[in-house]
Amino acid sequence: MSESQPQRGLFVTIEGGEGVGKSTNIATIEAWLIEQGIAHCLTREPGGTALGEKIRGLLLTVEQEPVTEHAELLLVFAARAQHLRQVVEPALARGEWVICDRFTDATYAYQGAGRGLSVDFIRELEQSIQGDLRPDCTLLLDAPAAVGMSRAGERAELDRFEREQMAFFERVRDCYLARAAAEPQRFQIIDTARPLAQVTPDVCAALDRLKQATC
Ligand code: TMP
Repeated sequence: MSESQPQRGLFVTIEGGEGVGKSTNIATIEAWLIEQGIAHCLTREPGGTALGEKIRGLLLTVEQEPVTEHAELLLVFAARAQHLRQVVEPALARGEWVICDRFTDATYAYQGAGRGLSVDFIRELEQSIQGDLRPDCTLLLDAPAAVGMSRAGERAELDRFEREQMAFFERVRDCYLARAAAEPQRFQIIDTARPLAQVTPDVCAALDRLKQATC
């Protein structure tokens, strides 16, 4: 007798500009998953595989030679192709929730709105690399660009993206908000400009709703 296939897991992505509190809120999400006894895989982009982490290093490190916008875009998708095949698809097939710190919404926000690359080209790459795979739910951690940048500025050293100008991060935020408005059934927006004591219950409530919707 063949064993029944596990139900496909949920694909949840966490998005937002710089300094919106991703690390803190992802720790909250992980604690919630453990408390609920939900099998999960916590991963990130760019990264999540050995090759992907090398590509992440190439993307974030500041070198003398400028990185062209298209090189940046293709590196992001190279890391994603590897990550999907090696990590995300197998975990979903095992029935785990995959919590991914950034995914393709970040490409639309950073390479599309931030760098000004063609949205149609990004969409073509998305379709070629991902097929029909899209996040089931995206938590958008949102704060005004100035708030996020002042938090990110407190870090020891800024990476290649964090060194961008405020106008870049305003375009990134506007793009995220526009994508959330266009797909309200997928996105949940959490206002992270508020004190953490108000943000954490909202994150847990969003996860509770997600769990209820899948039971
Ligand atoms: P972070 O995950 O530590 O915030 O850093 C990753 C950086 O990579 C962040 O500045 C956004 C950037 N990024 C892109 O530009 N495009 C992408 O598709 C992804 C996933 C990340």
